[in-house]
Amino acid sequence: MKNKILEWVDDRFPLTKTFNEHLGQYYVPKNFNMWYFFGSLAIMMLVIQIVSGIFLTMNYKPDGLSAFGSVEYIMRDVEWGWLIRYMHSTGASFFFIVIYLHMFRGLLYGSYKKPRELVWMIGVGIFLLLMAEAFMGYLLPWGQMSYWGAQVIISLFGAVPFIGPELALWIRGDFVVADATLNRFFAFHVIAAPLVLLGLVVVHITALHEVGSNNPDGIDIKKDKDENGIPRDGIPFHPYYTVKDAFGASLFLIFFCAVMFFWPEGGGYFIEAPNFVPADPLKTPDHIAPVWYFTPFYTILRAIPSIAGSPFPGVVAMGASTLIFLLLPWLDRSPVKSIRYRSTTFKLWVTMFVIVFFILGYLGTKAPSPVFNIIGQICTVLYFAFFVCMPWYTKNEKCKPVPERVTNK
Ligand code: HEM
Repeated sequence: MKNKILEWVDDRFPLTKTFNEHLGQYYVPKNFNMWYFFGSLAIMMLVIQIVSGIFLTMNYKPDGLSAFGSVEYIMRDVEWGWLIRYMHSTGASFFFIVIYLHMFRGLLYGSYKKPRELVWMIGVGIFLLLMAEAFMGYLLPWGQMSYWGAQVIISLFGAVPFIGPELALWIRGDFVVADATLNRFFAFHVIAAPLVLLGLVVVHITALHEVGSNNPDGIDIKKDKDENGIPRDGIPFHPYYTVKDAFGASLFLIFFCAVMFFWPEGGGYFIEAPNFVPADPLKTPDHIAPVWYFTPFYTILRAIPSIAGSPFPGVVAMGASTLIFLLLPWLDRSPVKSIRYRSTTFKLWVTMFVIVFFILGYLGTKAPSPVFNIIGQICTVLYFAFFVCMPWYTKNEKCKPVPERVTNK
């Protein structure tokens, strides 16, 4: 009976064919480690955000007069509303943790190198859109930090030469952040951006399946196939990695639930304290800081001095600090992909980059001070040096010999 139904469907829709192409007979390296959990975890986080978002929308009101109150209503009166809200707000931070680790894996194993340049670049596109999505979502609870954070960031567009003020006005839909801004951010946050995100994720995975996954040894498993044309170091994605990823997802969910139930505001890092106060256009908070996942880039913005009172150079630097990831496939000249076989010089640069990224992130959460500003400037230079100097320090790198077959079988 089951086979009959499947046959009937298969005659009309390529169900079994698609399943085999992407799961059942899709061969992946057998040496994936825990770093390879983060792709499937990113999909899971996207689903969690969309589903919890749908339920939030059922009681949320995108209106300057009732938005804050509707979130309080969700938290106090709607059945399980607090859980749905925390799932979404803590979920946003966890999504970024997953994405940063997913990107870092790419750096460790050279996953951005040929032939995966497009997979990487689409990933960077997803990352940029995800930042826009989170930024717009943060305005919706209409708390003090929502309001003033948006005010600061949108006014940066005002620094663009010639068209700046018009551009900022066009984005806000008013002279200050107001009801019109809230309404359009709601529209983009709830429908436009998630729709494009989903599309980009499909393209990301389609591009990956065209070239196949890299692995912790950075070896091309397609080069060594058996008489049936199956890579000797490959195993079918299903059932091997569906089971392994389900295990990774279970571990991750235990951790996620622990934080969501016992530490949902993340000590003021996931939801900032001023956001429990309703937005007041007449009262600026003492210290405006974005959520932690934006702070490395925010510090770069603050590190560059203004010219004639215009923060435009900082805005350019902040934009460049995210867009520069697009160039990584061409900046890295080493023939070796995995960090396991790369030089100590490269390992030191990567270590430096990680430390600098954390310091930049920390500084962005703090109020500016002369000492912090200098540290921020040094870290900004080192951040860009990691990318700009890469062609030199990777060109004649002394790498270890790469094995023929994958290790950790
Ligand atoms: C919603 C966000 C994202 C989702 C759902 C997603 C999903 C995935 C999945 C399922 C895989 C295959 C499994 C794995 O290798 O872990 C993958 C691989 C990959 N992703 Fe993403 N991704 C996202 C964002 C990004 C970002 C932001 C980047 C980089 C800027 C990126 C770069 C890559 C690369 C280079 C690979 C191939 C890795 C390899 O073969 O070693 N992805 N992604």
